[in-house]
Formats: sequence, structure tokens, C-alpha cells
Amino acid sequence: MMTTPMTSQPEAALQLMEAVLRDGRPMAAEYAQIFGSGASGHVETIEEEGEIVSTCAWIRRDLLVGGLELPVAFVGSVATQVNHRGKGHGTAVVERAIARAAEDGAAIALLWADESAWYQSRGWVPLGTENVFVVNGNNAFLLPDAEGVRPMEARDVPAVHGLYCTHDSRVDRSEAETGSILTTPGLRALVREVDGEVTGYACVGRGEDLVHCVHEWGGTPEQVLPLIAGHWEATSEESDRLFVMVPESEADFTAYFTFIRSLGAKGILAMARIGDLGAVARVFERLTPEEVTVETVGDRSIALNGPSGRITLSDHEILLALCPPRGDKRVTEVVEAEIGVDLPLLPIEPYAWGLDSI
Ligand SMILES: CC(C)(COP(=O)(O)OP(=O)(O)OC[C@H]1O[C@@H](n2cnc3c(N)ncnc32)[C@H](O)[C@@H]1OP(=O)(O)O)[C@@H](O)C(=O)NCCC(=O)NCCS
Repeated sequence: MMTTPMTSQPEAALQLMEAVLRDGRPMAAEYAQIFGSGASGHVETIEEEGEIVSTCAWIRRDLLVGGLELPVAFVGSVATQVNHRGKGHGTAVVERAIARAAEDGAAIALLWADESAWYQSRGWVPLGTENVFVVNGNNAFLLPDAEGVRPMEARDVPAVHGLYCTHDSRVDRSEAETGSILTTPGLRALVREVDGEVTGYACVGRGEDLVHCVHEWGGTPEQVLPLIAGHWEATSEESDRLFVMVPESEADFTAYFTFIRSLGAKGILAMARIGDLGAVARVFERLTPEEVTVETVGDRSIALNGPSGRITLSDHEILLALCPPRGDKRVTEVVEAEIGVDLPLLPIEPYAWGLDSI
């Protein structure tokens, strides 16, 4: 098999993504961060006999978690031409994206998969937590009225971005980036205005994804719940359910939906692979007390040395100690017992809101 890794060829790669992932429908406008002018994302390709046969997109991002900056890369839109599948191209193009992202300082690569089996057999593991609640005919009447709710307009972007920045766990993005992704086709964004001031926003839909799902919002429950009522009013003729995504860090929202007996599920945030091990070690340095030293061991493990011992964590164990699915603290507890020190900052609960997905 001859494969020639090529430098990025965004146009042809985009056509392949559109053919495989959208039945030929346009996709570029959904991903301004990858294909828009001045985009910071990247496209990787594998070519066979002068033709692009496999591709994927990735973008370097920083996840803000409280005071911590976690350097990551999001990977997405993985596609191989139908008549070139099963030859390892898909695996190779994703490995290429992870390697490039690691060179660019990403400690972890993250992706959102509709079907995770393919990724799981290639070393990707579940990471983090995302809660989903269901608004339906049984509980929607308990929501407050959609008073003061109106469609978002371009002039609302600064206020919306300001509200986005109040979240403890989020992707670090600029106001310009927020403004550009708010123009994504298929996005329905509402704001709540009180006395001339935008006090909350909530978004449903994103391209062909997240239909009937409130995937990004900002503001206190008092401001956001009327917006969810507004989305419910708009969507209840098309769908008998509206999903609402809630990060672990937003306990007031979780408490509210539990109180109104909304069906809920604690799911995972994303699938993950280790990127640059040195960057991972630096993240652990930041999250452990001074008496703990952290070092990389080979190209897959890190070691934590504490007052009473040392523990070596390999790739999956690193992710389980740092950011386990559904907040499971067991690996962190093992590390604490082995090295003899409390690790109150571990594990962490990062979150990526819907507008950032690729
Ligand atoms: C998934 C995809 C990218 C794999 O591309 P590829 O170049 O064939 O990848 P590889 O050759 O490295 O791997 C192929 C293997 O994965 C298996 N596979 C393909 N899709 C799978 C799935 N959804 N679940 C589990 N295994 C799958 C194949 O059967 C094959 O197995 P084999 O090696 O035992 O024969 C390609 O099938 C594709 O473009 N699918 C449609 C788009 C998509 O689902 N993208 C991922 C979501 S973003």
C-alpha cells in the first residue's frame, strides 16, 4: 500500500467530507473555525495516486477549568472515500491529526463520535461528564413563562459573549469567534432582555447536529429557564422532546431539572487520547501540591512522586486520574494513597459548550 501524506488541501478535503458526511450538502458554513476566512483549524489528508482518500479536521483550543488552562485539540469530520475504506487510511489520518496537535502543544485530543466503537478500538477512551435533561409535555408547563425572550441579533454578540465568559468551565474563545460561530446555519439563538439589557441566551441546533437540543446557554437559572421555555414553544410542534445539556459545574441547573422531575442522564463529555505527554505532565504539576514532582516516563506514561511513594500512570490511567467519565474519583484515590498526599484539585471537570464542537 502506498500512501502519501500531503500537506493540507482544504478544498478537496472539504468535498470529501461533504460527500461522506453530508451526502454532498455544503458543510463549510457550519465550521467557520475550520473553513472560514482567518480560521485557526487544520485539515489533514491522506492521498493515494494523487487523490485525497481520507481526511479529518482538528483545531487547537484551551479549555478553561476554574483557574486552569488545559491545552487540547478537537478532532472531527473524519471521512474516507467509500471505495478506499478498510485500508488503514482513516486510522492514519486521525493519528496524523493527533501528532500535529501534540506538536502544537495539545495535552489531549478530544472528539465527539456518533458511533464510538471505531475510536474505542483505536485507543480513544471516554472522558469527563455531560448531563442531559429532557423537557417534554410532562414538565414543560413547570418552566417559567418565556417573558422578555426574543431572537438573538448581531448587536447582541458582545452581551452574549460576556455571558459565555461567566462559565467556570468553557473553551477559551474571543468575542470575534463567538460572533462568527453564532452565524452557523441551523442555529436558533434566543436572548432574554430585561430593562434593555441582555441577561441570558440559549442556542438550539448547529448545522445538521444538535437539533432540538439546547447545547449552549449563559446566565443564571432565572434568566435561562424562560429561554428554554421559548425554545420549547418554538420546537414542540416539530418534536415532543427538547434536550438540555448541562455541565457538572452548573449545580443550580442540575438541581432545578431534578426538582421538576425531568428525565436526565449523566453521560460522557467526549472521547479522548493523550497528545503531548510533556504538556500532560505540566498540567499535573499545576494540579498537584508542591511536594509532588511529575516526570514523563518513556513516551506513554508519567510518574508522580510524593512523600510516601511513586506511581506511574499510563495513557488511559492518566486520563482517568485527570478527568474520569462521570466524575469517578477512584483512580485519583489510588494515586493519593500511593504517593501519600491529598490531591484536592483532581480530578477536573472541563466542559466544551455546543458552539465549539467540530
Ligand atoms: C469510519 C471511517 C472514517 C473509517 O475509515 P477507513 O479508512 O476505512 O478506516 P480504517 O481502514 O483505518 O479502519 C477500518 C476498519 O474500521 C471498521 N469500521 C468502520 N466503521 C466502523 C464503525 N462505525 N464501528 C466499528 N468499526 C468500524 C471497518 O470494518 C474496518 O475494520 P477492519 O480493519 O477489521 O476491516 C470510514 O468508514 C468513514 O468515512 N465512515 C463514514 C464517516 C464516519 O463515520 N466518520 C466518523 C465520524 S466523524
